[in-house]
Amino acid sequence: MTDRPCLYIVLAAGEGTRMRSAIPKVMHPVAGVPMLGHVLETIGVSTGDKAVAVVVGPGMDAVSTFLSKRAPEASLHLQSERLGTAHAVLAARDAMTADRDTLVLFGDTPLVTPETLERMRAALATGADVVVLGFEAADPTGYGRLITEGDTVTAIREERDASDEEKGITFCNAGVMAFSKGILPDLLDAIGNDNAKGEYYLTDAIEIARSRGLATAAVTCAEAEVQGVNTRAQLAAAEAAMQARLRAAALDGGATMVAPETVFLSRDTRIGRDVLIEPNVVFGPESSVGDGATVRAFSHIEGASIGDGATVGPYARLRPGSAIGAGARVGNFVEVKAATVEDGAKVNHLSYIGDARVGAGANIGAGTITCNYDGVSKHHTDIGAGAFIGSNTALVAPVRIGDGAYVATGSVITKDVAPDALAFGRARQIEKEGGAGRIAARAKAAARKPDSKKSEG
Ligand code: UD1
Ligand code: CA
Repeated sequence: MTDRPCLYIVLAAGEGTRMRSAIPKVMHPVAGVPMLGHVLETIGVSTGDKAVAVVVGPGMDAVSTFLSKRAPEASLHLQSERLGTAHAVLAARDAMTADRDTLVLFGDTPLVTPETLERMRAALATGADVVVLGFEAADPTGYGRLITEGDTVTAIREERDASDEEKGITFCNAGVMAFSKGILPDLLDAIGNDNAKGEYYLTDAIEIARSRGLATAAVTCAEAEVQGVNTRAQLAAAEAAMQARLRAAALDGGATMVAPETVFLSRDTRIGRDVLIEPNVVFGPESSVGDGATVRAFSHIEGASIGDGATVGPYARLRPGSAIGAGARVGNFVEVKAATVEDGAKVNHLSYIGDARVGAGANIGAGTITCNYDGVSKHHTDIGAGAFIGSNTALVAPVRIGDGAYVATGSVITKDVAPDALAFGRARQIEKEGGAGRIAARAKAAARKPDSKKSEG
């Protein structure tokens, strides 16, 4: 661990042509978070004083909007022409200060871990001036090859500029490079574009640094960690790798998963201890599950918190803004949106609870619907603690049901119900003595008429 101040520069100006997409490549999500978000979160847990600069291309408004929400402290830099990785880093020149080390990462490499970045920073702290992240590639095609002499790296050769002998090297540049404080601007100025692609290569910094007597080194990591995303197939591969990592972390954290390979998590899903997650559960962004809670099969949870010891599902859907209290139950075919189901409350079957509060210990009968939308606006339903809502009730919002009130089954409730009151909101039942017999007699008489067949239907 090092506490030397560090500037992280994230390159995200690439067009991502091979994604065939209208949105910038780094905004494509992996585990519910844009790829750029993963890189920022990885940086976010690093130690010491840090600054973050992101380099974007023209027209990448989606990236700036995302950054202003998720990483307002990051500075945004525009690379107006795509002239290579060194040129892209130069776009962030304003962010470079003489007192900081600099680490350059790519926005389309979401699996890189905080530990790896720490190891690169540690290499700077122990005397290296330029550090490159290397890995043994199963297939090195397309990667820059690391040319080494003993422990030091003497050059990085891009595929197109490599000799046949150099192409045989499998030790490759992962793309992350680190520079000790103060040295980067001069190195960048010295980089030219005399190569097969006519681009300014950041990788040339190694040879230049060596010619100036600076110390270069490589830190290595597993190939899986530096998997880059250029295509949708690679996006799917990155998703699979990230899911495997998140599931392992949830299991490590004390959750039981019956079939972890069928549970899909978001990077920010928080799962407590002794949580049971049954098969086929999907967690969208911003969700949490408290200690001892159970999420039963086929549930979909997004932007929701599940309290300690609560039970959700099977087949439940929690939408953004849902907070399920401790020990509460949300059962099968129940949808909850922007609603609080307080401690110990029960919504066990076939209900829609939207824009609402269900007070502690309340019991919501099967088929209850909060009618929150009148076609123009959304309205709130407030159900007091310990209230009982009979099955198949429509609560027409805005409406309040007082604490301990009892709403009769099949009601349509349009007016507030006082605490502890009993409310009926349904047509009164009428009973006619012997009525059933009279109907049967009429039916029999009709069947005896010769033309009855014709009048049928
Ligand atoms: C780069 C490395 C290569 C390494 C590989 C690892 C260089 C010259 N080559 O090659 O050694 O093995 O990554 O994946 O650095 N970008 C910009 N502006 C530009 C050019 C690129 O922002 O003008 C960004 C891209 O959005 C991308 C990153 O830089 O995030 C890498 O660029 P890319 O063109 O994909 O480099 P590679 O050819 O893959
Ligand atoms: Ca690339």
